[in-house]
Amino acid sequence: MFSYRHAFHAGNHADVLKHATLVAVLQHLTQKEGALSVVDTHAGAGLYRLDTGEAATSGEALEGIQKLLNHLNSDGTVTGTLPELLKNYLVMLAGFNQRNGGGKGIKLYPGSPLIAGHLLRQQDRVMAFEVHPTDHRALRTTLAQATSDAKLQMDRRNGFEGVIPLLPPVSRRGLVICDPSYELKTDYADVVKLMGESLTRFATGSVLIWYPIVGRSEAHDLPRKLKNAADKAGKDWLHATLQVRAGSSGQGPGGGLGASGVFVLNPPYTLKPQLEEALPVLVKLLGQDKHAAQKLESKIR
Ligand SMILES: C[S@@+](CC[C@H](N)C(=O)[O-])C[C@H]1O[C@@H](n2cnc3c(N)ncnc32)[C@H](O)[C@@H]1O
Repeated sequence: MFSYRHAFHAGNHADVLKHATLVAVLQHLTQKEGALSVVDTHAGAGLYRLDTGEAATSGEALEGIQKLLNHLNSDGTVTGTLPELLKNYLVMLAGFNQRNGGGKGIKLYPGSPLIAGHLLRQQDRVMAFEVHPTDHRALRTTLAQATSDAKLQMDRRNGFEGVIPLLPPVSRRGLVICDPSYELKTDYADVVKLMGESLTRFATGSVLIWYPIVGRSEAHDLPRKLKNAADKAGKDWLHATLQVRAGSSGQGPGGGLGASGVFVLNPPYTLKPQLEEALPVLVKLLGQDKHAAQKLESKIR
């Protein structure tokens, strides 16, 4: 049985990196009229409260999204000179709260399936997989109540398996979001396998993978394996990491995770310059000690 519950980590620095990147990818993909299919292999509960419950108890959001919210005005505009990627992420959050009855301020934090649901259009669809019984039930309610123009569906199957028959999507335009909890050692190998399947079945599709930077060989090897697979297939990729403090043991305040990375296969051409501008600002805003750092590498042909 899985014990990971994303509710305790919602809005932390890892979510900021992952979700700001997700917003940028989706905003680019929705510029074209053609229908878009998003598959979220590890969806979580979908919606979290920042003011009460697990996210408030853990305090992780205080070291993540809350540090950015100082830049958001009550009318949903962003103050100062934040980079475009972060501005768009905050404007998405404000728009989501307004649309879903969040009340004054930013109290609701959407997870990946609802971020997609918020940004997608009538012609688009989201398929979300979640196996945890509690989060699966929460996700069902959340998706049913969400205000979205797109079609939102879910399944309690293993997302690594459920995604396969959905590739390629009928629309031939799509994004796979793969964000496991990495509770199982096998998750790392399954992520590499999923990317291989995506390259074989849907070579032009985009895949966004998040991973924790922790002291285990599987985590260390993952980006290298993903880059090799993309290179072998002759496809573009981008890899960004954000470290907010030393130590990635999984222990200590805020869950102890000090760093994480996102890997994007077939990234939009706009993503690299956006991250180039945003990552140093994230280090400044979210960095907790002198080890705070970022890295961006890519192969764009
Ligand atoms: C990191 S959380 C997902 C967070 C979500 N993607 C977001 O950004 O808001 C990972 C989730 O995957 C679920 N999970 C673990 N293994 C799974 C599997 N094989 N298939 C589907 N869901 C799984 C866990 O229960 C957990 O809720």
